[in-house]
Amino acid sequence: VEPPKLVVPKAILEPEEVDDGKKIVTIFFGTQTGTAEGFAKALAEEAKARYQLAKFKVVDLDDYAADDEEYDAKLKKETVAFFFLATYGDGEPTDNAARFYKCFVEGKERGAWLTNLHYGIFGLGNRQYEHFNKIAKVVDDILYAQGGKRLVPVGLGDDDQCIEDDFTAWRELVWPQLDALLRDEGGATATTPYTATILEYRVVFHDQTDGSIFEDASANGHLNHNAVYDAQHPCRSNVARRKELHTQASDRSCTHLEFDISGTGLVYETGDHVGVYCENLIETVEEAEGLLNLPSQTYFSIHADKEDGTPLSGGSLLPPFPPCTLRTALTRYADLLSAPKKSALLALAAYASDSGEADRLRHLASPEGKEEYVQYVMASQRSLLEVMAEFPSAKPPLGVFFAAIAPRLQARFYSISSSPKIAPSRIHVTCALVYDKTPTGRIHKGVCSTWMKNAVPLEESNHCSRASIFVRTSNFRLPVDPKTPIIMIGPGTGLAPFRGFLQERLALKESGAELGPAVLYFGCRKQKMDFIYEDELSNFVEAGVISELVLAFSREGPTKEYVQHKLAQKASDVWRTISEGGHIYVCGDAKGMARDVHRTLHTIVQEQVRIYATHLADSVAGSLDSSKAESMVKNLQMTGRYLRDVW
Ligand code: 2AM
Repeated sequence: VEPPKLVVPKAILEPEEVDDGKKIVTIFFGTQTGTAEGFAKALAEEAKARYQLAKFKVVDLDDYAADDEEYDAKLKKETVAFFFLATYGDGEPTDNAARFYKCFVEGKERGAWLTNLHYGIFGLGNRQYEHFNKIAKVVDDILYAQGGKRLVPVGLGDDDQCIEDDFTAWRELVWPQLDALLRDEGGATATTPYTATILEYRVVFHDQTDGSIFEDASANGHLNHNAVYDAQHPCRSNVARRKELHTQASDRSCTHLEFDISGTGLVYETGDHVGVYCENLIETVEEAEGLLNLPSQTYFSIHADKEDGTPLSGGSLLPPFPPCTLRTALTRYADLLSAPKKSALLALAAYASDSGEADRLRHLASPEGKEEYVQYVMASQRSLLEVMAEFPSAKPPLGVFFAAIAPRLQARFYSISSSPKIAPSRIHVTCALVYDKTPTGRIHKGVCSTWMKNAVPLEESNHCSRASIFVRTSNFRLPVDPKTPIIMIGPGTGLAPFRGFLQERLALKESGAELGPAVLYFGCRKQKMDFIYEDELSNFVEAGVISELVLAFSREGPTKEYVQHKLAQKASDVWRTISEGGHIYVCGDAKGMARDVHRTLHTIVQEQVRIYATHLADSVAGSLDSSKAESMVKNLQMTGRYLRDVW
């Protein structure tokens, strides 16, 4: 029997298309955490108010078409389209844009076949990363090259600063273009000036003695009888084991956690990621209850439709969570510790009884208050709760709080640190604790890493901690042939997927397979402090699963030793592995380590070709210029021989 699903049927959100001659503008989004989707909907809302003679459809790229042919056929018919595209990890598209991206980027050369299309693209990225807004830029280039007419320059949203401002600025470029376009074609004219409405759920308060309502024991209301688990249908699982990986000498913490997936049907492969929905700390929840000035046992449900079933706010609201107490809602569904968005400040302002507070909140959210917003919220890392505490007269109702102020608590992704060949009924996670003092003196405790650190495992109590989890497939995979030489570079928790790789190699070896050489570069601060899984790694060496373990301790000697320094010292070995068809894997921090390792690999390739050529007295090769070395490294990436799992 199909379990009840919480996802609102599409038919409710988007009534069946009727051809009434109105021009259709399609707004696509590729989203991971909901920001791109939110922008797409905001553009549609405003556009609907401005152009009553055109229709604006918001479309999830994954739902648009079933296969490449359908993407082609449908896109060919589009005349005006906007794309909101986020770039993730190592310059990758979001999961829901992956098929579309593959189809267009790797698709066949088609010449100018999109000449009917006017389009605009807004990218969501972070300038700290190497591939800043790569997906938006690539799709923009391709649409343009294939005949599409660019309405506005590609918007480069930067999450490191204030991405909402980037979106607002880009949107202001859109309106004059749409005015011209929709008016020229006689379809519509700009009409009503627009002020954004504050999103709000309809709230129903329930009497707890009402027998038909009960507190759902499973987060998100899901029970484990789905055939397929995903972000909307996660799997409830017990924490089976938990262990601290740092020694007492360390002032930091890293948790090894095992989720029990036996009997759930949830499966994974070595190198996959696990998405974890965790819970806020009770102290955080209590603070929020106080700020909302409501008792924790308030029992309520939220609804995205009116009592007669018609949708509220044009369907911009996320599907509601199940009926529960305020305590549960704040624990499971509200992101209370992120920086509040400008739209959240505006919603708070609308419910501030003190006019001074309301004015200040509105100013912070206004274009004139941009600098102050950057200082007060972003640079000071103020959390939503911190801001609410500083504007105590703002007491929003629950429907507004959950729709417009506190974003939904998102799943956090981790590289799985086990292999199903060794641990078929467990998913292992290796998670460093996020614990920082912010500029305002607040101690920021990472939501999920803190939850993991405090989790109670089944080995210790029958009332163990549980979480809703799901597996995200990755392309971070061992070579098909176990004899292929590999180099793994993973300092700190970057070791996680390699522990899975090594478990898999051990299982292969035990089943009689012949293994090629495997070199692991690991780095940490001090051997006696944060050398995680040290015993396991020496066992892997002993078992011949690791052929060489190269260690870089960054705080033991007078100078920093990082994995890339070790790599450079072993340049000729690295080059040999590359020339023998080996694979290189990097996992860990994208902004620092992975970028530096990439540069080092580039230098190694450039240098080694020179040395090799001199050796052979080869006057043709001589040396490799930087761009040729780069294209060689690129080629390794394109052919799947240089893979990165970075965050
Ligand atoms: P540090 O903290 O002493 O700077 C795991 O976190 C290890 O990665 C630590 O030893 C850390 O060193 C090191 N590390 C920090 N930045 C790095 C970088 N850009 N490249 C490689 N390793 C780095």
